[in-house]
Amino acid sequence: MLTLAVLISGTGSNLRALLEAASHPDFPARVIAVGADRDAEGLAHAEEFGIPTFTVPYTAYASREEWGRELAAQLDAWQPDLIVLSGLMRLLPPAVVERYAPNIINTHPAYLPEFPGAHGVRDALAAGVAETGASIIVIDDGIDSGPILAQERVPVLPGDTEATLHDRIKPVERRLLIDAVQRIATGDLTLSR
Ligand code: GAR
Repeated sequence: MLTLAVLISGTGSNLRALLEAASHPDFPARVIAVGADRDAEGLAHAEEFGIPTFTVPYTAYASREEWGRELAAQLDAWQPDLIVLSGLMRLLPPAVVERYAPNIINTHPAYLPEFPGAHGVRDALAAGVAETGASIIVIDDGIDSGPILAQERVPVLPGDTEATLHDRIKPVERRLLIDAVQRIATGDLTLSR
């Protein structure tokens, strides 16, 4: 059974989908802890599923490195097989990447390498593209630059706003994420940096 620690910053709708999938007895992975860099709304999903949570508030530390050391310590307490970034809106610090890579995956709301970074949906809209997408990647030292595990196109529709487009991308992300975790857990997918 693959054990997962999930890190979030926001509403945690993708986290919730993963919690629902992982609560099925046949699913080969379990969420053992959910962490956040702020008082994230999505932590409530973990609590509802009885999963322990931790918060390492980014703004409480003098530097990203200090924040990273505490985040690494919290993760080490759980010894997860895989870390899933499900809407964590911070760059993971080297302390965590060096310790856990390549066993860290990230879900991103664009068809990487198009539109990396914190505003993947907004940037795609601003560029006026007809299609964007969703991607699941392995985290490396760069910004959304690691190996792509899965991705799918999502059309941009006339009149789309950042919110409507993001709402159509998220269900695709959820499906890709759950499938990727399942394939990692069963050994169908091997991670490398
Ligand atoms: C997801 O779309 C995820 O891909 C994105 O944040 C959203 C979180 O939604 N992450 C990034 O943009 C990371 N660069 P959720 O909190 O509802 O799951």
